[in-house]
Order: sequence, then C-alpha cells, then structure tokens
Amino acid sequence: MKKKIFSGVQPTGNLHLGNYLGAIKNFVNFQNQENTECIYCVVDLHAITTKQDPQELKSNVRDTVAAFIASGLNQKKSIIFNQSAVSAHSECAWVLGCSSRMGWLNRMTQFKEKAGKDKEKASIGLYVYPILMAADILLYNSTHVPVGEDQKQHLELTRDIAQKFNIDFEAKNFFILPEPIIQKDFSRIMSLKDGTKKMSKSDPSDLSRINLTDSNDEISIKIKKAKTDSHPLPDEKNGLAKRPEAKNLIGIFSSLNNQDVDKTLNEFSGKNFSDLKIKLTELIIEKISPISSEIKKLKMDENLIDEILNKGALKADEIASKKIKELKKIVGF
Ligand code: TYM
Repeated sequence: MKKKIFSGVQPTGNLHLGNYLGAIKNFVNFQNQENTECIYCVVDLHAITTKQDPQELKSNVRDTVAAFIASGLNQKKSIIFNQSAVSAHSECAWVLGCSSRMGWLNRMTQFKEKAGKDKEKASIGLYVYPILMAADILLYNSTHVPVGEDQKQHLELTRDIAQKFNIDFEAKNFFILPEPIIQKDFSRIMSLKDGTKKMSKSDPSDLSRINLTDSNDEISIKIKKAKTDSHPLPDEKNGLAKRPEAKNLIGIFSSLNNQDVDKTLNEFSGKNFSDLKIKLTELIIEKISPISSEIKKLKMDENLIDEILNKGALKADEIASKKIKELKKIVGF
C-alpha cells in the first residue's frame, strides 16, 4: 500500500535544530522513499492562534518554505503549500469540531503550556487548534505523520476524532486513522540553557537554540555557553538518565551524525564536555551552514518561493476538495 505522509510546520519565526532533527530531516527521508506520497504544509492558520504581524507572517511563510527547500525538500517530489491557500482545511475543521468533545481538548497539554496561567485570555483558536490539525491530516487520507514528541498527544486526538466521526456517521474507514512517526532517541531536542525544557522558537533566550540561519560564530558561541554538568561523559545510555544536558548534547551529536547514541558514547566516554563541545560545534557547522547559506539565497528569490507555494496549493486543493465533497455528502449538506 502506498504510504501517504503529511506534516506541518508553523511559520512563527526562525526554525531551529529541534524542528530540523525532530521533523524536517525525517520529511526529507520520506520524500526519497519509494511508494510514498508526501505533503508538507506551512500552517499559517495555526500561526494566527497567537497574535501575528501580517507582514511578518507573510515573510515567515516564505522563510519556512526556504528552510524546507534548503533542508532537501523538493517540490517535484513533495507537495509544499500553505494552509490558508486551501479552504478545505477550515471547512473540515468546523465539521470535526462538532464531533470533538470539550473533555478531549481540556486534556491537551500544549494548550495548557501555551495559554499559561491566564487561560481565560487565550484565543478560542488556540483552544481548538488540535481540531484544525486533525483536519489537516485527515483531509489527505494520510497514513503516517512524522512529528516531534511534543505533537504525540495531538496525533492521538486526531485518531479519536476520526474514529468518532466514522462511527457517528456510519462511514466506516472514511477518515483513515494515521500513525504518528516519532523518532526513538531524537524526538525531543532540549534547550541549550536547560536540558529539561524543549528547544523552542518562543524561548526568550536566543542562546537556548540553534537557528537554521545562525552563522558559524553564533553556533560556536551558543555551544560554548550551553549548560553542562561537572562529570565526565558516561560510557553507556543509563549514565545519561539523570543528566539532561549531557543527554541532549549527545543526542544532537548522534542525530546529526546519523548514528545511535551508543556509538557516540563510545567515542566520548570518560571525556569532558569541552571535548564533546569542540566536536559538536564542528559537526553542527558542517551540517547547518550549507542549509543556512541556501536559506539566505532562496530568501532573495520571493518569486520562486511564491511559485512553489502556488503550484503546491493547486495540487493540495485538488485532493482536499474531493474529500470535502464526500464529507459534505456524508454530513447531509
Ligand atoms: P511546530 O511548528 O511547533 O513544529 C514543527 C515540527 O517540529 C517539531 N519540533 C521538535 N522536535 C524535536 N525537538 C524539539 N525541540 C522540537 N520543537 C518542534 C514538532 O514536533 C513538529 O513536528 N502543531 C504543529 C504543526 C502542525 C502539524 C499539523 C504537524 C499543524 N498541523 C499536521 C503535523 C500534522 C506544530 O505546532 O509544530
């Protein structure tokens, strides 16, 4: 059976190493597999669940596409488009919202984290965000969804929503229940300043993350300043259990070098963080600087980016509007 891959990335500022290792690198792997159809979406409807400057949003959408292409996505192999260009996403989200239950949404940890203490002031959009995400995935009959660990709960909810709709409307298998694809060891890249916190675009400290557009000097400074502990590096995985910063830096090294954690530990066991940091800096620069210079080049060519988006939107719309037509029939519209 053909694999149908769908995933999305929010255009809310610089993409970072967490987005790359947790998601985008995997997008590229799927794109190069046989019998696999890939759709990657810049989710601008999701972005406006928190306040965005309209001009900045437009430019962030283009920057995200530039990062996709610079990381190895190819518009001839994958459909690349922005969510707001395909109206089926909003339509489907409304219908799915009517199958979803408040209790399900109330359990979403990402809403709790993003809304913070004063959740009365959060937008309704932020609250129903996971329903829109379910619509994104289900519209394309996606079978697999590559994401970082932080999206796991949203994927479980997507399956619940799909199942409830199929049962409520006696539409067996209308929505396909998608499988999340979450990498074993590298699905949660942590902040460089605190190994217990996720690396995130919204962290106020830029030192907490490596952006895909960082210069070599910035990378070098950030790794030099990354938090460590005072013990030498262990010789086996168990030794990383209570050492979040060591675990994170070893994980980043392993993922970038496409090797498992045991192999990296063999290389660094008994050594100090300073040794790891030197090699890690070299490796990040080797892997990220070609991406970063390609992003800069692509950003100068807005027409090219817009053309990729327009062509992608036409292809996505063709698939999604068919599904919406069937959906409307089932619902009785
Ligand atoms: P977003 O934009 O926050 O992140 C994009 C992708 O990057 C992953 N990611 C990470 N992975 C590992 N370590 C990290 N520190 C890290 N930070 C981010 C995320 O897990 C994600 O895979 N709701 C989604 C976007 C979305 C979507 C979808 C995804 C909308 N519709 C449909 C899949 C399918 C989000 O906000 O991702």
